[in-house]
Amino acid sequence: MDKILVLDFGGQYNQLIARRIRSEHVYAEILPYNKISPEQIRQAGYRGVVFTGGPNSVYDPASPHCDPAVLNLGIPVLGICYGHQLMAFLAGGEIRPAQQGSEYGRTDLFVTENVLFRDVPRQSVCWMSHTDAVAVLPDGFRAIARTEHCPCAAMCDETRRLYGVQFHPEVTHTAFGQQILRNFLFDVCQCRGDWKMEDFASTTVEKYRRELAGKKVLLALSGGVDSSVAAALLHKAVGPNLTCVFVDHGLLRENEGDLVENTFRHRFGMNLIRVNAEDRFLGALAGVTEPERKRHIIGESFIRVFEQEARKIGHVHVLAQGTIYPDVIESGKGDSAVIKSHHNVGALPDVIDFDEICEPLRDLFKDEVRAVGLHLGLPPELVWRQPFPGPGLAVRIIGEITREKLALLRRADAIFREEVEKTGLSDAPDQYFAVLTDLHSVGVMGDARNYGCTVVLRAVTTDDFMTAEWTRLPYEVLERAGSRITNEIKGVTRVVYDITSKPPATVEWE
Ligand code: XMP
Repeated sequence: MDKILVLDFGGQYNQLIARRIRSEHVYAEILPYNKISPEQIRQAGYRGVVFTGGPNSVYDPASPHCDPAVLNLGIPVLGICYGHQLMAFLAGGEIRPAQQGSEYGRTDLFVTENVLFRDVPRQSVCWMSHTDAVAVLPDGFRAIARTEHCPCAAMCDETRRLYGVQFHPEVTHTAFGQQILRNFLFDVCQCRGDWKMEDFASTTVEKYRRELAGKKVLLALSGGVDSSVAAALLHKAVGPNLTCVFVDHGLLRENEGDLVENTFRHRFGMNLIRVNAEDRFLGALAGVTEPERKRHIIGESFIRVFEQEARKIGHVHVLAQGTIYPDVIESGKGDSAVIKSHHNVGALPDVIDFDEICEPLRDLFKDEVRAVGLHLGLPPELVWRQPFPGPGLAVRIIGEITREKLALLRRADAIFREEVEKTGLSDAPDQYFAVLTDLHSVGVMGDARNYGCTVVLRAVTTDDFMTAEWTRLPYEVLERAGSRITNEIKGVTRVVYDITSKPPATVEWE
């Protein structure tokens, strides 16, 4: 199996690089920049190395540097953004703040003939995000691409098979980014591309069968794609030693609790405990309006409920969770900034009554998780369910959470989902839901003034939820959903559609 090493220098999208490589059927492994020596890299037999982006400047004393000997192993290296600058610096070049200041966003890229740019047009769009730039190329290197303000947008030393790009080929905004990565993998590194996602499922099941033998495992099951796939994986690995706990926190969508219970208890025959904890959660959330506080309260309450259940079933060694990679990165693990604390990672309380935590999907993105789920035989309707956040409707109600608001939002959300699903759109949004704002506005009903609340409809199209476009839903769908919501739900005077993408917004409102 061909492997690529992704050396992590702390950028926001590093796992995305690994995932883009895996999508070409080449296995990619991420390691922190200082956790592997050049000799270990050589011995491990990597076909290539990628230096990722990162927030630092190479001259900053605190900036992460790897051993320059990595460039002389005879193994191809691709530097991306900070990795590109670091490569130039380690090879003897000079980096300076870019003359025109920072270059950020979609930028025209002009490339010259090079193996890295096979099948890439001479002019295309790339995604830039940098303040420094390569000012003096190291010996043996030449510039092979430029943008209006960056004369060295890409460079190479073909003899040593070293390549650097200032832009981000891993993000979809770079029109030919995947082609560039493909060229690096197959033309420069000579990878074969014979790794499959199925290999991930079978090696992971095998790994946990060994590591968790004889241990009791408790899994937090939400019924969403991630925890369902984690349950299926672990059920294959440890069988009846797995107990799934499904906490109905009272923040679920319409009929969701019963659906989850039926699927897992009756259809899959797994050990399932359903805990009805609505009063506990709503009690803890009473009067709370601040989004991060809500998330922390929910995260903490979850863990306490699990601990309680775990005690009832005797000593539990392992707490398993369906955490996936975007949860990890957006909760600000490693060097990237906290965007929001996804309840199953960033908000974990310090003291937990379990020996270990097991997160089998921690390195995967949503679409990779789905592929694993299908491979494990989960029903497609479950695998293709739209994601639903752990904190549930709590992050879709702006301000305080009350039972009345929950009931209102559940109905509005069900109507919107019904209308989208009824239409059978060929390019259906990847996630669509309603949000209840704390904004009141004047309406008219019959001949009377009506002062009610505002519901937002949100639909996004994305493949990894790290970035997302707002979905151009047909007007007729919006029209039907909007008029049904105002007609059928007392207290709603206005329905609006959210037309912000991510970034700058996030998918959820809180
Ligand atoms: P954001 O709002 O961060 O959402 O752009 C990206 C995706 O993650 C989901 N999401 C969560 N999932 N726990 C989860 O398991 C959470 O706390 C959480 N917050 C957001 C969101 O629904 C979207 O699919």
